[in-house]
Amino acid sequence: MAARRKPARAKTTRAKARTKPRARTPRKRASAPQPPELLQLILGYWIAQLVHVAAQLDLADVLAKGALTPEELARRVGADPAALRRVLRGLASVGVFAQDAQGRYALTPMARTLQSDHPASLRDFARMMVDDYNWNAWGGLLQSVRDGEQSFERVHGMPFFDYLQRHPEKERVFAASMASISGTENPAIARAYPFGKLARLVDVGGAHGHLLATILRRHKKLRGVLYDQPQVVSGAPARGFVSAPDVRERVEIAGGDFFASVPTGADGYLMKYILHDWTDAQCRGILGHCRDAMAPGGRVLAVDHVIPKGNGEDWAKLMDVNMLVLPGGRERTREEFADLFASAGLRLARVWKTACPLHVLEAVRA
Ligand SMILES: C[S@@+](CC[C@H](N)C(=O)[O-])C[C@H]1O[C@@H](n2cnc3c(N)ncnc32)[C@H](O)[C@@H]1O
Repeated sequence: MAARRKPARAKTTRAKARTKPRARTPRKRASAPQPPELLQLILGYWIAQLVHVAAQLDLADVLAKGALTPEELARRVGADPAALRRVLRGLASVGVFAQDAQGRYALTPMARTLQSDHPASLRDFARMMVDDYNWNAWGGLLQSVRDGEQSFERVHGMPFFDYLQRHPEKERVFAASMASISGTENPAIARAYPFGKLARLVDVGGAHGHLLATILRRHKKLRGVLYDQPQVVSGAPARGFVSAPDVRERVEIAGGDFFASVPTGADGYLMKYILHDWTDAQCRGILGHCRDAMAPGGRVLAVDHVIPKGNGEDWAKLMDVNMLVLPGGRERTREEFADLFASAGLRLARVWKTACPLHVLEAVRA
């Protein structure tokens, strides 16, 4: 029996290899001598740029229609065939795309998340995070470490969000990138906190409303206000989150500046990835407006990373440096959040874990 089954398995494997290139990290990666770990860290920016180029050229979207040779792909995306061949080979060496026996490149599981329509797509995040304006600001990290000042403003002559406001296409990609990384985060946040106990929820700095729509879809009686800068919320209906038929009747859209005011009278003020953008003094301003605007018994719900103690690996620790470089904000520990809320006349009541790396920090009037 065993002798009969063996050739059949081998045949299936070969047949699969012909129709579908291997969708996993190439074997060579495990067996070839690798540079020392520190060298791999030093050269990490090569890989970041390779992934950025793949996202900018929409390589994954084109290859989703079928495997192509570098020459065929170069014609479709308007690239130099010889240069693209080298880029694809480099990407395949780290598990993004795989070359088949006919020399065609195809998607791997990792490459699929570079497709624009993948539910957990990172395409816009790869376009935004490695774009020249962020890349150049990161190049100023050494100076930031010397003087403690954020790099972005020194490099670009204006703060991060002002820069985006003046570059509408980059702002659009930034908002799209926030929505794209939200694909896995927002359902976890909507599940983690009992939003059903609220009547009206303002999403402060809610971008295009992905999180608000996810929460409203889960809690049918809840009403929501999407609040962000006017030029950002004006693009929200077209994105389709808050204009979806099952939520649009319950959503108001309001444009404004959260350093000046926030919509009044709600019992919930949600802010995801907002406090981490700003210094303590700036956060006190935003939190103070929420405290003054909220209905009696209302609450502030900050959704952010909470930096854990110890040396363990945690994305928040690297994101914290990104905050130093770009907007000049910071990630915080639980104690730092408690102090920040207290300094704004609020009391940290509870920290809710979610099934994603973010926490919901619930604060009430002190
Ligand atoms: C890091 S994004 C977070 C977006 C969204 N909450 C999410 O998690 O996907 C920060 C948001 O704050 C908004 N923002 C920045 N400055 C603002 C201001 N002064 N008033 C209102 N919104 C502002 C930006 O437009 C952006 O949408």
